[in-house]
Amino acid sequence: MTLTRWMQLLVLLVMLTHCRWAKSVNSDLESLSQELLESARRPEFFRWMKRVRRTIHQNPEVGFEEHETSRLIRSELDLLGIEYVWPVAITGIVASIGSGSKPIFALRADMDALALQEQVEWEFKSKVDGKMHACGHDTHVAMLLGAAKLLSAREHQLKGTVKLVFQPGEEGYAGAYHMLKEGVLDDVDAIISLHVLPTIPTGSIGSQAGPVLAGTGTFTATIKGVGAHGAQPHLSRDPILAASSAILALQQIISRETDPLQAGVVSIGYLKGGQARNVIPESVEFGGTYRSLSPAGLIYLKNRIDEIIKMQAAVHQCKGEVDFMEDTPMPWPVMVNDEALHEHGKQVAEALIGKSKVEVFHLTMGSEDFSFYSQKIPAAIFVLGIKNETLKSDKPLHSPYFFVDEEAFPVGAAFHAAIAISYLEKHGGLVECV
Ligand SMILES: *[C@@H]1O[C@H](CO)[C@@H](O)[C@H](O)[C@H]1NC(C)=O
Repeated sequence: MTLTRWMQLLVLLVMLTHCRWAKSVNSDLESLSQELLESARRPEFFRWMKRVRRTIHQNPEVGFEEHETSRLIRSELDLLGIEYVWPVAITGIVASIGSGSKPIFALRADMDALALQEQVEWEFKSKVDGKMHACGHDTHVAMLLGAAKLLSAREHQLKGTVKLVFQPGEEGYAGAYHMLKEGVLDDVDAIISLHVLPTIPTGSIGSQAGPVLAGTGTFTATIKGVGAHGAQPHLSRDPILAASSAILALQQIISRETDPLQAGVVSIGYLKGGQARNVIPESVEFGGTYRSLSPAGLIYLKNRIDEIIKMQAAVHQCKGEVDFMEDTPMPWPVMVNDEALHEHGKQVAEALIGKSKVEVFHLTMGSEDFSFYSQKIPAAIFVLGIKNETLKSDKPLHSPYFFVDEEAFPVGAAFHAAIAISYLEKHGGLVECV
C-alpha cells in the first residue's frame, strides 16, 4: 500500500470513530418547529411583531417609496445585531445570518402598500389618505423580522447562511427583478416567500408544486381619430366606436383562439374617452391585463392584442397604438413552485401545525413578482391563512376592507425560521464530528 492509501485509510478510521452522519432532518424537525413556535408565541415576542406591523400599517408607502418602512426594518435589524446590505434597489435590504458560507437560503418579504383608501375603522388604521397595506406586506415584514430574531438566537447552529430579503415595489413595479439585477442574490441556492391569504383559516399553511400563479402582462391602448360634433358623425373618425369594436374583438382571443384546456385571461380594466354627450372625441384610451400559464401563451396573447387593436382601429379609419410597458419589465413570468422545495416546505408545515392544517394552495391566475426569483433559482411561495370570520379577516386581498388576524404571526415567523434551518441542515454539513 502506498503512503497516500495509508493516509486515506487513517482519515476514514478517524471519521468512523469520531463522526456520525448528521441526524436525519425529519427526526428533529418536529421539535425544532415546536421550539421556534413556542418562542414566537411568547407574549413579549408576539407583541413586538404586532407593534412593528401596526407601525408599518399606519404609515403605508407605495412601490420604491418605502423609505420609512426600510428605516424601521434597519433599526430593528440593528437592535438584533444583524448585518445587512442597503440600499438594494432603492429601499431594499438584504440581511445575513449564519456562517457566511454556503449553502445560502433566502427568505423574502415585500414591503410596499397599495394606492387605496382604507375603509376599516380600527385603532391602527392607515394615517395616509389613499394609501393602505391591503395586501398584507406589512405582516410579511413583521413575520420576517420575527424569523430574523429566531434565527439570530440560533446563529451558531446554522449550517450555512440565511439571507433575509426585504424587497420594494411588488405591486406592479417588479421590485423582485430590480433586486436580482443588483446581484446580491447571485450566491443564493434557494428562496421562499410566505404570503398571507384570507381564504384559509388563521394559522394554516398552503402550498402546491408546479405552476401556482400566472405569468402576467399589462397594456395601455390609445386610439386616435378625428373629433366632431355629435350631430355630424360623418365628419368624425370615431375612436369610441373603434375602441368598442377592439374591446369586443379582444374577447375572442380566449374564446376562439386559445385551447379551452389552456388557461388564459384578457381583461380590460378601464376605458376613458370624451367628456360631452354631444361631442365625438379625438381619442380614447383603455387598458387591461393578459395572463397565461406558459411563456408561449404570454407571447401569443401579447401579439394578438397588439394586432387586434391596431387593425380594429384601422377598420374605423383611426390609428391604434399599444404600450406593453416593457421597460417595467413586462410581462412577469409564471410562478412555478420548485418540486423539492415545495415538498420540504410541506414537511416543515406539517411538523409545525400538524397535517390537518396544511392546505392545497390552488392555482389561480393571480400574479406575484416573486416569479422573477423562480426563473433564476429554485423558489417556492407558500400561503398563510389569516381568516377568522369573527374578526372579519376574510375580506379579499386588495379590498379596502382587508383585515388581518394577527394570531397567524407566530406561525409565520416560526415557519420561515424552521424551513431555513432545516434546509441548511439538509444541504450543508452532512457529517458532524466530535
Ligand atoms: C377568532 O377571533 C376571535 C376574537 O379574537 C377569537 O375569540 C376566536 O377564537 C378566533 N377564532 C379562531 C377559529 O381562531
